[in-house]
Amino acid sequence: MYVCVCNAVTDREIRAAADLGARTLDDLKVSLGVGTCCGRCTDCARGVLASAAGALPACAGGDD
Ligand code: FES
Repeated sequence: MYVCVCNAVTDREIRAAADLGARTLDDLKVSLGVGTCCGRCTDCARGVLASAAGALPACAGGDD
């Protein structure tokens, strides 16, 4: 699914970035551009990143 619509970034891309070492939203901003436009995706992106690290469930959908 698309997490960041502005930059066409999917949850799979975020998980791949996590596999390559991304640990923070700033890491995702640098590597993928997540959250650099409207910013509505940041909570969901954090959730996907945390899920990739095994800490939390991924974004459950909603407005993000
Ligand atoms: S949806 Fe990610 S910056 Fe707009």
